[in-house]
Amino acid sequence: MSWNQSSLLCLGLLLQLSLLADCSLKSEWTSNIPRRINGEAPAPSSGLRLQIEQRYVVMDNGLLQVTLSKPQGIVTNIKYNGIDNLLEHHNEEENRGYWDIFWKPPGVRKGEREKIHGTSFNVIKEEEGQIELSFTATWDLSIGNKSVPLNIDKRFVMLLGPSGFYTYAIYEHLEGWPDFNMDNTRIVFKLRQDLFHYMAISDQRQRIMPMPEDRETGKPLAYSEAVILTNPINPELKGEVDDKYQYSCENQDCRVHGWISSDPPVGFWMINPSIEFRTGGPVKQDLTSHVGPTTLSVFVSLHYSGEDLSMSIHDGEHWKKVFGPIFIYLNLAPADGHVTKLWEDAKQQLLAEVQNWPYSFPASNDFPSSDQRGTVTGQLFIQDRYLLKENIPADSAYLGLAAPGDIGSWQTESKGYQFWTRANSDGSFSINGARPGNYSLYGWVPGFLGDYKYDLNVTITPGSKVNLGDLIYEPPRQGPTLWEIGIPNRSAAEFYVPDPNPEYINKLYVANTTSNNTVPVDKFRQYGLWERYAELYPHEDLVYTVGTSDYSKDWFFAHVDRKNEDNTTYTPTTWQIRFNLDNVTRVPNEIHMLRVAIASVTGSQLLVHLNNTDSYPVFSTSIIGRDNAIARHGIHGLYWLYNIQIPSDKLTVGENIIFLTQSRHMSPFQGLMYDYIRLEGPSTSI
Ligand SMILES: *[C@@H]1O[C@H](CO)[C@@H](O)[C@H](O)[C@H]1NC(C)=O
Ligand SMILES: *[C@@H]1O[C@H](CO)[C@@H](O)[C@H](O)[C@H]1NC(C)=O
Ligand SMILES: *[C@@H]1O[C@H](CO)[C@@H](O)[C@H](O)[C@H]1NC(C)=O
Ligand SMILES: *[C@@H]1O[C@H](CO)[C@@H](O)[C@H](O)[C@H]1NC(C)=O
Ligand SMILES: *[C@@H]1O[C@H](CO)[C@@H](O)[C@H](O)[C@H]1NC(C)=O
Ligand SMILES: *[C@@H]1O[C@H](CO)[C@@H](O)[C@H](O)[C@H]1NC(C)=O
Ligand SMILES: *[C@@H]1O[C@H](CO)[C@@H](O)[C@H](O)[C@H]1NC(C)=O
Ligand SMILES: *[C@@H]1O[C@H](CO)[C@@H](O)[C@H](O)[C@H]1NC(C)=O
Ligand SMILES: *[C@@H]1O[C@H](CO)[C@@H](O)[C@H](O)[C@H]1NC(C)=O
Repeated sequence: MSWNQSSLLCLGLLLQLSLLADCSLKSEWTSNIPRRINGEAPAPSSGLRLQIEQRYVVMDNGLLQVTLSKPQGIVTNIKYNGIDNLLEHHNEEENRGYWDIFWKPPGVRKGEREKIHGTSFNVIKEEEGQIELSFTATWDLSIGNKSVPLNIDKRFVMLLGPSGFYTYAIYEHLEGWPDFNMDNTRIVFKLRQDLFHYMAISDQRQRIMPMPEDRETGKPLAYSEAVILTNPINPELKGEVDDKYQYSCENQDCRVHGWISSDPPVGFWMINPSIEFRTGGPVKQDLTSHVGPTTLSVFVSLHYSGEDLSMSIHDGEHWKKVFGPIFIYLNLAPADGHVTKLWEDAKQQLLAEVQNWPYSFPASNDFPSSDQRGTVTGQLFIQDRYLLKENIPADSAYLGLAAPGDIGSWQTESKGYQFWTRANSDGSFSINGARPGNYSLYGWVPGFLGDYKYDLNVTITPGSKVNLGDLIYEPPRQGPTLWEIGIPNRSAAEFYVPDPNPEYINKLYVANTTSNNTVPVDKFRQYGLWERYAELYPHEDLVYTVGTSDYSKDWFFAHVDRKNEDNTTYTPTTWQIRFNLDNVTRVPNEIHMLRVAIASVTGSQLLVHLNNTDSYPVFSTSIIGRDNAIARHGIHGLYWLYNIQIPSDKLTVGENIIFLTQSRHMSPFQGLMYDYIRLEGPSTSI
């Protein structure tokens, strides 16, 4: 990778993670010298050692020792800094560090969870600077549906230098093998309960966590993942809500997370150097770390998206994909340093890993090195004549390569690789390290409606540098904006997010002047906000008046149903948008255009009426959406855009009302989050 590319990459990462570091110090990060943070280097290691026993294999680089079961390839022991095992040694060996899969044959509703057990063990590399081990599970017809029809090769790599180890896996389905769906695959680490109590996901999202027992003694809420801690071991946590979904994160942000032990001062980190092997693109959300102490790296899942993201193998097709490598990083605080330094150091290590991506060490031919990959550059402009005569540089646009498909299809793409970047302020962009293949170039621009897709396929060959030049995105538009609600950026965060019910608090998301969090972090991650709608609007539904209402106060972030007095049934709700028109031209066939962009939807039907709800709706969806982002405290799920034509002669001079009804009402989690709504007048010559 050239310096230029890597510094661009580094810049991109800085933009996304707002990590403060000097990107020009590349050589320092990539150095292979073992280090102790701010302190003296540990005793020089005597090189890499591999010890192969009857039932175990042990990799050691002088800093840590990783034991795997043989031939299964389950991580049973991680010895570090004199601690015998960082993993929970009270758990069965099976249940410490493992890859697993949730899969189902076609037509089956509920899948099986299967831990991936190797049946054959091989040493791929045993060199001075690298150990690479392979644990393979092979499928054949005699196994039938007792096991997922995949050949899986789990790799574990240890290098001389960094205090950690890498893992990746190659999944392959051969032609003619049975079809199946994969709903989830991930790697899981269960850490020592007596050591790891402090969890960190981002600069703002860090806290002392409850213990697993606290969840058992607690009171379950509307679903089993959420409990109130009634009798926690740490009394300071009493009365708080615990729910692993409160610690979810978008792929683009979820690059390093993990746990800190204060005594001894040790950190255990999941570092995700790339998102190329994850499904659903940069804003797909997933679990990170949670009570256990558990740390995950999730490669495929239905979270915040639903069945649409289930990876479906059909017609006996051939499919192969490499998940990872990811890096499990361990660090140690200096004797005089605060343990939170471990988080700062883990972020630095993430930058080092990103600088080294694509890694050159994986021995598998299925992982192309940097010179076998290609680059796509260009500059994106927005053409929206009703906004500005000139083209507008697509500042901070998201641009990505994913499997060829329809506009926006990357959101639910689950079989291939995706390569994303953010454009600079002038709209220029560079997508680096793309694997050879045929792709579509997709994108969207925060602040603008809709999805971009480049007209032609983009073909990457080893070493190719594709320059697409100037590109133009014309967002959906037919006429001038008469009014708009919200910001078109695929999130409902700008709307009114209520304070949580005082009985359902997670203190992490409460403003705290003592700790400088005067503005609460991600308030939308509190439990139970959906119930607050009925408290705010007990009898009459929300009415938004264009010109006087303020969407940050008067537009509830989620269009939910209302619980009835029996506490078990729910009533649909209908919101109103009231607006005045000074004039309506009566040109035959003229239309106004209502744009409804949706940031999340679950089991809902949206009906749009004009004037009154008795008449036939001007628009209706079928029952759509399964992203479940309301229950999971996401502020968005998948993105939907509806362009609704309203014959202009249906509008009147004076007050008009648009009614938005969500008609489904079986559960409190059915509902939708709007991203942005706009009414455009008929096209005019400009
Ligand atoms: C697994 O295969 C057996 C034998 O072919 C069949 O009876 C059974 O229904 C299958 N199970 C599933 C979950 O598909
Ligand atoms: C890309 O598409 C072209 C034309 O459709 C085809 O010839 C080529 O094999 C494809 N390349 C890859 C890597 O799939
Ligand atoms: C792009 O590639 C896909 C899949 O290879 C193919 O079906 C489609 O026709 C291609 N589109 C264009 C415009 O070449
Ligand atoms: C959308 O805009 C709101 C308000 O500025 C902001 O809070 C939110 O983070 C933005 N979301 C995205 C995905 O850009
Ligand atoms: C606010 O922050 C201080 C200092 O970090 C902490 O001691 C206190 O418990 C916090 N209060 C709440 C309500 O989270
Ligand atoms: C709060 O912010 C100020 C100024 O940035 C800083 O000096 C102080 O240490 C911070 N306090 C805490 C508790 O983080
Ligand atoms: C419904 O719940 C409220 C609040 O918990 C309670 O006051 C009320 O009695 C309940 N109503 C019924 C019919 O159970
Ligand atoms: C019609 O009304 C719109 C918005 O109320 C206004 O922007 C536009 O100038 C008016 N057009 C005419 C011809 O009066
Ligand atoms: C709304 O009311 C106006 C005036 O009463 C009428 O002309 C128009 O057809 C109505 N539109 C619909 C969709 O019912």
